[in-house]
Amino acid sequence: MTSTQEARRGEVSIRHLSKSYSLNGSALQVLKDISLHVRPGESLAIVGASGSGKTTLLRVLAGLEEADAGTVLVDGKTVKGVGAERAVIFQEPRLLPWLTVLDNVAFGLETGGLSREQARSRARHYVRLVGLQPFETAYPRQLSGGMAQRVGIARALAVQPEILLLDEPLGALDAMTKIEMQQELARIWQEEDVTTILVTHDLEEAIYLADRILILPRGKGGEPRLIPIDLPRPRDRSSPEFVRHREELLKLFGLH
Ligand SMILES: Nc1ncnc2c1ncn2[C@@H]1O[C@H](COP(=O)(O)OP(=O)(O)O)[C@@H](O)[C@H]1O
Ligand SMILES: [Mg+2]
Repeated sequence: MTSTQEARRGEVSIRHLSKSYSLNGSALQVLKDISLHVRPGESLAIVGASGSGKTTLLRVLAGLEEADAGTVLVDGKTVKGVGAERAVIFQEPRLLPWLTVLDNVAFGLETGGLSREQARSRARHYVRLVGLQPFETAYPRQLSGGMAQRVGIARALAVQPEILLLDEPLGALDAMTKIEMQQELARIWQEEDVTTILVTHDLEEAIYLADRILILPRGKGGEPRLIPIDLPRPRDRSSPEFVRHREELLKLFGLH
């Protein structure tokens, strides 16, 4: 391991984060005093009802949105704005239609200081990691939704971020593809050893992927909750422990 790799840790500290939006002249408090420490290499899922502020929190972590109060530290340093150590994956991969799969993944790496050949070689590695090697020369219009999202994941990983931020990345996929992609994400996370913060409204997805689940309350007064998921990996969705976690979460959402 080189010294630069040793320095890449991916520890996230969220301290007293608050955020309001103004809505018709009055303030809508979306995040209220959120504090959380995410360990290097940890997989954290953020769940909560629609409108509970999941996307807002992720956008603040990404540096796409500014909090009203509080700080976000990565490896002990306060972050301001976006940074190459944090990569974001959205529900829609937004690929460049005129570039091949390989070039979509390589795009941007050259501005990061790699030669064209280095960029393509690194891109090839990540295209292979997400299982798209046979489609290197395909164009986005020739891909299924699941394949396009794999390209998005490869593109984010190719930057070699310390922290991967995902906002409902599998939300637009059909049920079968979704399960397949959850298995892929679990495998990739273990191979890449990257800190992962995943927003999802899918409780089963959160239990399948996360070391801990942060539940955001909806509306005033509620407190965020953290639920550890200490299950062996790869996880078995039908195991009694998995089912118990699912029931516990459903109950917390009043859905049981
Ligand atoms: N740019 C914005 N301006 C005003 N209100 C916003 C803005 N972005 C989000 N909101 C409001 O903040 C709340 C939380 O939104 P969001 O973080 O997208 O929730 P979630 O991702 O959990 O569904 C919602 O009520 C939403 O309407
Ligand atoms: Mg959202």
